[in-house]
Amino acid sequence: MKKQLALLIILGALSNAGGFNPSMQSYINGLKIEAKKSNSNFTDFSAQRGEQIFTSKHIGKRGKEISCTSCHGSNLTLPSKNAFTNKTIDPLSPKVNSQRLTDVLEVQKWLKRNFNDVYKREGTAQEKGDVLYYIKSK
Ligand code: HEC
Repeated sequence: MKKQLALLIILGALSNAGGFNPSMQSYINGLKIEAKKSNSNFTDFSAQRGEQIFTSKHIGKRGKEISCTSCHGSNLTLPSKNAFTNKTIDPLSPKVNSQRLTDVLEVQKWLKRNFNDVYKREGTAQEKGDVLYYIKSK
C-alpha cells in the first residue's frame, strides 16, 4: 500500500515535470474557460494547431508577409533575429531557456503585441493556448 502510494507520488511529479508553473497554469485554465465559451466543441489546446499558427505566413501589421518564425526562427531551441529590428532574440523553447513561459504578465504582453504584428489583431483564447502548448512542446 505504501509502495503504491509512493509510486503514485513519483508518477505525479514526473508527469508534471513538463508542465507549467502554478501561475501560468491558472492563466491557461482561464484561457480554457474562455475558449470553451466561444466553441462548445473545445476540449483542450493543441500543439499541432499551435504549430500552424506559429509557422503560417500572413500579411502583417507592416504590410509584409510575416510569421512568428520571422522573429523566433523555426528551431525554437536556437537564438534568432528580430525581423523588424535585427536584434538577437533568445531561444523561445523552455527546454533551453528556463525563463520562458514562466511569467504570466510577460507572456500576455508579448502575445498581444506579437499577434498584432503577424495577424493584425489579438489572438483568441484558443489561439493563445494552442501556441503556448506548441512552444512548450519544443
Ligand atoms: C517582429 C518580431 C516578432 C514576431 C513576428 C513575433 N515575436 Fe514573439 N517576441 C518578440 C520579442 C522582441 C519578444 C521579447 C523579447 C524576448 O523575450 O526575448 C518576444 C517574446 C515572445 C514571447 C514571450 C515568451 C516568454 O515567456 O518570455 C512569446 C510567448 C512570443 N513572443 C510568442 C510569439 C508568437 C506566438 C508570435 C506569432 C503570433 C510571435 N511571438 C511573433 C518578437 C517577435
